[in-house]
Amino acid sequence: MLYPVIGNSIFITNGETWKSQRQLLEPAFSVTRIQDSFERMNRAVDDMRARLSKIPDGGVFEVEPEMTHVTADVIFRTICSLSISQKEATETFEAFLEYQRFSYGDSVPSLINIPKYLSLRWWRGRHAATRIRNVLDPMVQSRYENFVKGEPDNNNDMLSALLNASRSETGSAMKFTYKELADQIAMLFLAGHETSASALSWATYLIAAQPEIQERMHAEAMAVMGADTPQFQHMKRLTLTRDVFRETLRLYPSVPFFTRESTRREKMRDKVIEAGALLVLSPWLSHRNETLWDKPHVFDPDRFDRPETQESVRNAYFPFSAGRRVCLGAAFALQEAVLVLAVIVRDYKLEVLKGDEPMPLARATIRTYGGIRVRLTRRDKTGVTQSA
Ligand code: HEM
Repeated sequence: MLYPVIGNSIFITNGETWKSQRQLLEPAFSVTRIQDSFERMNRAVDDMRARLSKIPDGGVFEVEPEMTHVTADVIFRTICSLSISQKEATETFEAFLEYQRFSYGDSVPSLINIPKYLSLRWWRGRHAATRIRNVLDPMVQSRYENFVKGEPDNNNDMLSALLNASRSETGSAMKFTYKELADQIAMLFLAGHETSASALSWATYLIAAQPEIQERMHAEAMAVMGADTPQFQHMKRLTLTRDVFRETLRLYPSVPFFTRESTRREKMRDKVIEAGALLVLSPWLSHRNETLWDKPHVFDPDRFDRPETQESVRNAYFPFSAGRRVCLGAAFALQEAVLVLAVIVRDYKLEVLKGDEPMPLARATIRTYGGIRVRLTRRDKTGVTQSA
């Protein structure tokens, strides 16, 4: 389903192709080492604070577009050392929503042997994919062409790591064509922000709905960061904020289900899985299974501190998948989320709007029908809300 947006990139390839892509991508992920990426995240979060400050005190905060903007900005800076503009952020957010809307029915015509391109939905999905690629491809193309012409690329970002890793050992040919590189970049952009944006949106709502937990988070943020600019060393001390994000990923894992192909015949309980069978794994269901978790539908970040939860985590917690295809950006995503949430709860009080409960919608990620909104009230530097 994602092919028109991300081409034949690591997210959807298998076997030897996947293996060699993962080897080529790993050097690019050294750029996402949490300490090195912290300053980029911090700058994107500063810009987020400036945008939030434009919302009138006590006004309504449209959560999903902002979370998409800040996470797209973080990953864009990590990929190519540029910040993403408001126009580009809105374009990618809206185009991907539209893409998912039109692509979901996409497989139906092929099930009844009608070519996909005869369906209007297919064309509208393709158009949305092109809108996303138009934001990314011109930048990748110019850096690729300059590099192939022999100009060194020392930008210390993911794109330069990929360009340098893709020069063959003999130093002449490139291991990636421009199209292959552009596909990997589109994949990194999408995997690197859509998932985080979904989880941060749900986290914001859950925090707004739990005033007692929110006050504890606020106290933690004040104790660790005070009114200062966040520092890398603050991050590991924001333990409640981290647990809130982990608990959000338990209740609303950004990728609600994914697929695996069985490599051999296997018996699972009373069922036989044949080699080659397609299995659908759903963290969303496993994380809410009553035989595996205590009060699975309750938002309880403190559960991660209780010893009995350790077994549930070991057996049935996989928001980042597990095994050889485990998410390459998990540590990056956790740090980004802790930073974003800690800054928001330090600076603002969040409240739910009466009768405005978000309704989950499972697509490639868990988004919503109709958005998520909360009320934002500024706190002063001592943490008191200004309207209090
Ligand atoms: C809360 C945020 C995130 C969540 C919940 C998440 C979740 C996942 C999951 C479940 C998979 C496996 C999908 C499958 O096998 O079909 C995956 C793969 C992947 N993720 Fe993430 N992800 C997050 C953030 C990120 C970020 C920030 C990046 C990049 C900086 C990233 C890069 C990747 C890549 C490259 C893969 C493919 C790995 C492979 O197939 O070998 N992810 N992610």
